[in-house]
Formats: sequence, structure tokens, C-alpha cells
Amino acid sequence: MLLKSVFFANAIASAVASPASLQKRQDVDSYIEAEKPIALQGILNNFGPNGNLSRGAAPGVSIAGNSETNPPYIYTWTRDSALTMQSLIHEFLTGNTSLEPLIQQYITSQAKIQTITNPSGPLSDGSGLGEPKFNINLTAYTGPWGRPQREGPAVRASALVAYGNHLLEQGQRDKAVQNVWPVVRNDLAYVGQYWNQTGFDLWEEVNGTSFFTTAVHHKALVEGQTFAEALGQTCEGCTVAPALLCHLQEFWNGTAIVSNYPTANDPKGRSGVDINSVLTAIHVFDPAARCDDVTFQPCSARALSNHKVSVDSFRAIYGVNQGRTAGQAVAVGRYPEDVFMGGNPWYLATLASAEMLYDALHQWDHQHAIHIMNLSLPFFTDLLPGIKPGVYPSETPTYQKITSAVRTYADGFLSVVQEYTPADGGLSEEYDRDTGVQVSAPDLTWSYAAFLTAVARRDGSVPSSWGSSAALKVPGKCTGASVKGSYAAAKPSW
Ligand SMILES: *[C@@H]1O[C@H](CO)[C@@H](O)[C@H](O)[C@H]1NC(C)=O
Ligand SMILES: *[C@@H]1O[C@H](CO)[C@@H](O)[C@H](O)[C@H]1NC(C)=O
Ligand SMILES: *[C@@H]1O[C@H](CO)[C@@H](O)[C@H](O)[C@H]1NC(C)=O
Ligand SMILES: *[C@@H]1O[C@H](CO)[C@@H](O)[C@H](O)[C@H]1NC(C)=O
Ligand SMILES: *[C@@H]1O[C@H](CO)[C@@H](O)[C@H](O)[C@H]1NC(C)=O
Ligand SMILES: *[C@@H]1O[C@H](CO)[C@@H](O)[C@H](O)[C@H]1NC(C)=O
Ligand SMILES: *[C@@H]1O[C@H](CO)[C@@H](O)[C@H](O)[C@H]1NC(C)=O
Repeated sequence: MLLKSVFFANAIASAVASPASLQKRQDVDSYIEAEKPIALQGILNNFGPNGNLSRGAAPGVSIAGNSETNPPYIYTWTRDSALTMQSLIHEFLTGNTSLEPLIQQYITSQAKIQTITNPSGPLSDGSGLGEPKFNINLTAYTGPWGRPQREGPAVRASALVAYGNHLLEQGQRDKAVQNVWPVVRNDLAYVGQYWNQTGFDLWEEVNGTSFFTTAVHHKALVEGQTFAEALGQTCEGCTVAPALLCHLQEFWNGTAIVSNYPTANDPKGRSGVDINSVLTAIHVFDPAARCDDVTFQPCSARALSNHKVSVDSFRAIYGVNQGRTAGQAVAVGRYPEDVFMGGNPWYLATLASAEMLYDALHQWDHQHAIHIMNLSLPFFTDLLPGIKPGVYPSETPTYQKITSAVRTYADGFLSVVQEYTPADGGLSEEYDRDTGVQVSAPDLTWSYAAFLTAVARRDGSVPSSWGSSAALKVPGKCTGASVKGSYAAAKPSW
């Protein structure tokens, strides 16, 4: 409370004088302490039925952001909601038990959403599960849109598995079987059946195959299989997981991740450098994993090389990044060619750039060593000029130097977010590329969720393992193997 009032006193004074400079002088720790309750409340405000910005959304349903038009965000997106729910479930699992009723309302709302016939299709053949967004009163949105978007069911399944595993640990197996599994089952069946068909990427623009989508599909099938076994159920779709891991390798070009194929489908002529790839690393982060390249773990040489390429692509193009040189954190957007709302940095992209590094720090500590490879050398050289490839065990001074430099770099992204957070702590979707002033929808649910997960990882608060270490065998030949699913309406009752 004290920190919060200090923050506001400073922030209000700064709004009168020079917002950026005064807020920047506050250290990042006090910013985080002040922003945390604002971010959680920001999420809750956007959830029905009681959130003060939720506009009558059904129980457990969240709007994407506080904007009726331009952009029209008073709808509920399966992806945004599931990623936000993953963040809330983490808060719940790490002690905030008061969030449980909302988690259960969310699961009930998703069971209903699964049954809504929509322009992507019905539940009966699974196709309707790929619909990106719905009206907040739980009816289909029938206007034109980039559909289907196939990552939604996978990230929803991962959210539900995290809660379902908690129920199992609590001895509430019946609830896991009756209320959670039937929803997860449909989503896993969808992934197993449709993963190799084209769809729109998470930015809703490119119709093809997308790195984030394939990666979260793979993770969902792997953890879904374990969850099914724990419940005495079967997941036929889960058996194709190795084919997805194989496809995932096809996005790697030797230095960076090409986030979407075919690039030719993209009117904007993107290179494929896209924060899609850094978001992927944080969403497939497994605290028990080694620095595995094939699953693009945050501490892997691939993820670090790609982090540099992605972050660097925003250095020269945004006015706000002037003077922020190699090795210093910058404002980060979706992809350099972006023109949506003027093509600006996004809070969730800047936060993901920090979060990936906190994840990597956790993994190095877990392994008691850092291995600098030729591939990751350019990433490390920016932070520590002259550093050489090699293995640095945790008891060496160099390990301490490296981890301290990486942490400072990661905190730098949070300082950038802090600098462009207005006095009231509200996080919109974007901040202007030249002035840093907020742009696009205010109170973006996903921005707040991204803040909470980034600062949880900074505190060493990590999710459970999804079993990635047992899913590293890449088949010699890639195929589009899929399994036709069967689907049924779920009817959770708490
Ligand atoms: C909603 O609650 C927030 C506090 O979280 C407050 O700042 C805001 O003014 C409220 N908005 C409305 C429309 O009531
Ligand atoms: C826990 O969640 C509730 C909402 O259910 C919120 O009001 C409260 O501030 C949270 N507590 C902490 C410590 O974050
Ligand atoms: C649900 O919301 C949509 C969009 O706002 C509206 O057109 C429709 O009439 C509503 N349906 C019901 C049953 O309230
Ligand atoms: C289907 O899988 C093959 C083999 O991995 C891959 O080359 C192709 O790009 C995939 N297509 C889609 C749309 O996922
Ligand atoms: C997406 O691409 C596929 C394969 O090229 C095509 O069949 C489908 O019609 C496209 N969808 C849209 C909405 O353009
Ligand atoms: C991989 O992608 C990066 C970023 O676009 C690019 O700089 C590099 O030249 C590409 N490498 C290959 C081998 O195509
Ligand atoms: C790493 O790069 C150096 C210098 O280019 C080269 O001599 C060495 O063989 C490379 N090591 C590996 C394992 O590729």
C-alpha cells in the first residue's frame, strides 16, 4: 500500500512535469510492486459478470480490451482469454485461492463456446473450435474475420490442464474427469485432426502455418497425453505429437525463426522476423527442460539467437528506441513491417522479450551452467563484449557476470514498459513508436496478463513442467499425420 501511494504521488507529479523522466527515476522494483495489483484488477475488470468494464459479458468471459470501435475489442477471443487464464491460474496456484470461482466460470463458459456453431463450423466435426472470437453474450460472431485461428484450442487446453492437475493433486479426481477433461478432450482432438491445415496466425493476418500455433499445438498434445493417462482416459490425437515436433523444425532458418509460411501469402512482404517466436519461447518454457533447441527452450542457442534478431529488428525503426544501442533493452512490437494502428511497440511484446530471459536464467540456475555456443555468441557479445564460446559452471565468476548482465538486460525491457506506463498504471495494447503515448485499445486484457507472467518469472515463480524432456525425438521424415477426432458437448457442473 505504501509503495503504491508513493508510486502514485510520483506519477501524478510527473504527469505535470515530465512524465517519462520522473517515472524512469523510480526503480523497476517499486514500479513492479505498484503495477502488480493494477494489472490483476485490470484483468478482473474485463471479466464478466462483475468486471466494471465487462459490459455484461457472460460469467467467466473476458473482453479483449476497453474499446468499442477502432479497434473493436468488445468480443471474447479464445486465444487471448486462454493466455490470460493461464496467468490467473498461475496466480491461483501460487496462493490466490480467491480466484478459483472465476477459473471455474471460465471453464463453464468455454464448454458452452465449444458448442456454438459459427462461421468456422460446428462442434460435430471439430471445425467450429477454430473460430477466433465470439460475442460476449455467448453467441457466434458472424462478420468477416481471419478464420480459422487454430492455436486457440491448444492454449485453452494448456490452461485447463494446469487447473486439472491441481484438482488431481487435491484428490478431486471426479471434478477433473467430469468438468475439465470433456473440454480438454475436444480441444486435443481438434489439434490432432487439424494441426496440418492452414489457418490464420495469432495476429490474425497471415493464412498459412505459423510457428506459435505449431509450438503450442505440440505442447498441448504432450501434456494432454499425460493428463489423459492420469485420468484413465485416452487421447488418440495426442499420438501425432512427433509429427508436430518435426514440422516445428521447419521454421528454423539457421539464425532465426521464420514465423509464418508461406511468406508469399503475406501482402506485407514480411521477412518472418516476428515476436510470435519470442512469445512461443515463453509459452513452451519448461522449467525442468535443458536448453533444448528442438523445443526452442528460452535458454537454447536457437531461442537466444532469435531473440537478438527479433529485438534488433525494432531498434532502428522506432523513434522511442533512439539512443538505445546493442545490448540495451528497447521497445518491441509484433514485427517490423507492422502497420496496424500505425505500427507501434506493444506492451505484451516488450514484456515477452523480458520474460524469455527470466526463463533462461531459471534454466541456467537449474543446470548450474551456461553453455555459450557459436550460435548464441552474438546475443552474449552484445551484453559482454569479448565473451567466448564455452561452458561456464555456476561457481565461476564468469557465470555470475553473464547472469547479472542478462538480468539487467531483461529488467531493461521492464524499464521501457515502466517509462511508457501512464500515471494511472493502465496498460493499453500499444504505445506510440515515436512519442511513447498509449495507442489502440486501453486496458488490453492480454497486456495485463503479460505483465503478471513476466514479473512472476522475474521472481522465480514458474509453471509446472509440461514434460518436454520426454518429447525431444524428432522423426527423420516429416509428415502431416493427423487423427480424425470425435467431439461431444461438455457440461461442467461445479
Ligand atoms: C473500474 O475500476 C477501476 C479500478 O480498477 C477504476 O479505476 C475505474 O475507474 C473503474 N471504471 C469504471 C468504468 O467504473
Ligand atoms: C487475489 O485475487 C483477488 C480477486 O479474486 C484480488 O482482489 C486480490 O487483490 C488478489 N490478491 C493478491 C495478493 O494478489
Ligand atoms: C448477443 O450479442 C450480439 C452482439 O452484441 C447481439 O447482436 C445479439 O442480439 C445478442 N444476442 C442475445 C441473445 O442477446
Ligand atoms: C504440414 O506438414 C508438413 C510436414 O511437416 C509441412 O511441411 C507443412 O508445412 C505443413 N502444413 C501446414 C499447413 O501445417
Ligand atoms: C487459406 O489458404 C488456404 C490454402 O491456400 C485456402 O484454401 C483458404 O481458402 C485460405 N483461406 C482464406 C480465408 O483465405
Ligand atoms: C534467417 O532469417 C534472418 C532474419 O530474417 C535473416 O537475417 C537470415 O539471413 C536468414 N538466414 C537464412 C539462411 O536464410
Ligand atoms: C565456432 O566458430 C569458430 C570460429 O568461427 C570455429 O573455429 C569453430 O569451429 C566453431 N565451432 C563449432 C562447434 O562449430
